[in-house]
Amino acid sequence: MTTTAEQSLWLATARESRRAPLRGREEADVAVLGGGIAGVTTALVLARRGVDVAVVEAGRIAAGATGNNTAKVTALQSTIYSTLTREHGPETASAYARAAQSGVELVGRLAEPLGCGLRRAPATTFALTAGEQAAVRDEYESAARAGLPVERVTSLDLPVPVHGAVRLPGQLALHPADYVRGLAGAVEAEGGRVFEDSRVRHVSTTGPYRVHTDDGVLKAGTLVVATHYPILDRGVFFPRLKVQRSYCVAATLRTGAPPGELAISAGSPLWSFAAHGGRLILGGQGHPAGERAGFGRYLALDEFASRHFDVEEVTHRWSAQDAVVYDGIPLAGPYLPGARRLWVAAGFGKWGLAMGTVAAEVVADGITGSDNPYRDLFAPHRVSLRSAPKLVRQNTEVAKDLIGDRLVPAEARDSGEIPAGEARVLPDGFGRKGVYRDRAGELHGVSLRCTHLGCFVRFNAAERSWDCPCHGSRFDIDGTVLEGPATRPLPRRKP
Ligand code: FES
Repeated sequence: MTTTAEQSLWLATARESRRAPLRGREEADVAVLGGGIAGVTTALVLARRGVDVAVVEAGRIAAGATGNNTAKVTALQSTIYSTLTREHGPETASAYARAAQSGVELVGRLAEPLGCGLRRAPATTFALTAGEQAAVRDEYESAARAGLPVERVTSLDLPVPVHGAVRLPGQLALHPADYVRGLAGAVEAEGGRVFEDSRVRHVSTTGPYRVHTDDGVLKAGTLVVATHYPILDRGVFFPRLKVQRSYCVAATLRTGAPPGELAISAGSPLWSFAAHGGRLILGGQGHPAGERAGFGRYLALDEFASRHFDVEEVTHRWSAQDAVVYDGIPLAGPYLPGARRLWVAAGFGKWGLAMGTVAAEVVADGITGSDNPYRDLFAPHRVSLRSAPKLVRQNTEVAKDLIGDRLVPAEARDSGEIPAGEARVLPDGFGRKGVYRDRAGELHGVSLRCTHLGCFVRFNAAERSWDCPCHGSRFDIDGTVLEGPATRPLPRRKP
């Protein structure tokens, strides 16, 4: 019997490619922070226009949300068109559909020469229960009105109940880590530079930007922040973005390779289906980041897979988080109103392969002064009156986490009460600390105050990390930053 890998299928099977950290002093016309789909695509579009560009990635290229997704590149995104039509009107839904389709087509063109398992497949949103039928009907009507060549179908090539579906032909699936690492190679082939293992600690903004990492400084006239969640704290994005965590498993089946359907159910809980390399990929179990998450999320996926498929073995488990914009539309453009040298791309919901790609083009066009048909749609500082109540609600929740968690109750009196493999909140003078006991019995203590803006982090038992509910920063058991926007580790505490 083999052991399930606690790593995404994509990162576990990606072609090896390693790049050196940023060391010493470097200069570029444009520095791109973040080596995911949006950052690397922006860099490639710029490099192909002759811009001297350098990418700075905290870990490995494609090792964040890009390498931890379901690898669907599609303009049919759950029930987005009925939501956009309801909240913004049919024109906005149409513009979004054109943007999403253009993202899919750009991925197709860029991926073609990279040998990254690219294939065309239809994408489907379906009703798993009779109660989801109305949502699917709405989605069909809204997507068709938005201009997508969707069709209604009554069955899927999947062994799950189907009570109606909307399908969009000609979408894409690929190996996302091989794809984005291939793009990074293309950036280098155009003369750009890509630095890995270079977490940004600080950016000085007087004169040209200076991006400081542990070992080097990159000076650049223009800066693109494509760090999944924007790491520069200007107070403008934190109220607009909410972070959602979701989970995936890959499994082999006794019946052979699973069907290649790219499908997602329309209700809650939602289930997402894809296939790669003879494995079924099942996703779902999403929840707001920072909510207590246990291994049960994976078990629920295992159970659903076994109920509907003849599962031989669950081979990989992984999870990821996505920044979701309050009005459902990504942010891509000037970081601050009128800014010409500071740009941002963020908030792709769970559809970053398509939307991060079109956002990259919006940013690259902005930097090089070219027109882009989606500039206004993605404008980071748009004001959406219809979505304003959502924004207020979202910020009320964050405010609760900023203030209320200061009263977080202790879960144990001392570390002697903590079983192996678990964590507890303990008293620490007048405050609190988090203590984790590893399988070998060693204790690891950290401050619970997130180093971003001070919310209290919570233990994520599924990933063995301390996660922040406010803006999604994640920290290892020793306090090391796993995901931003935080750039500094949690201070250690004596356990
Ligand atoms: Fe913003 Fe923690 S991520 S306060």
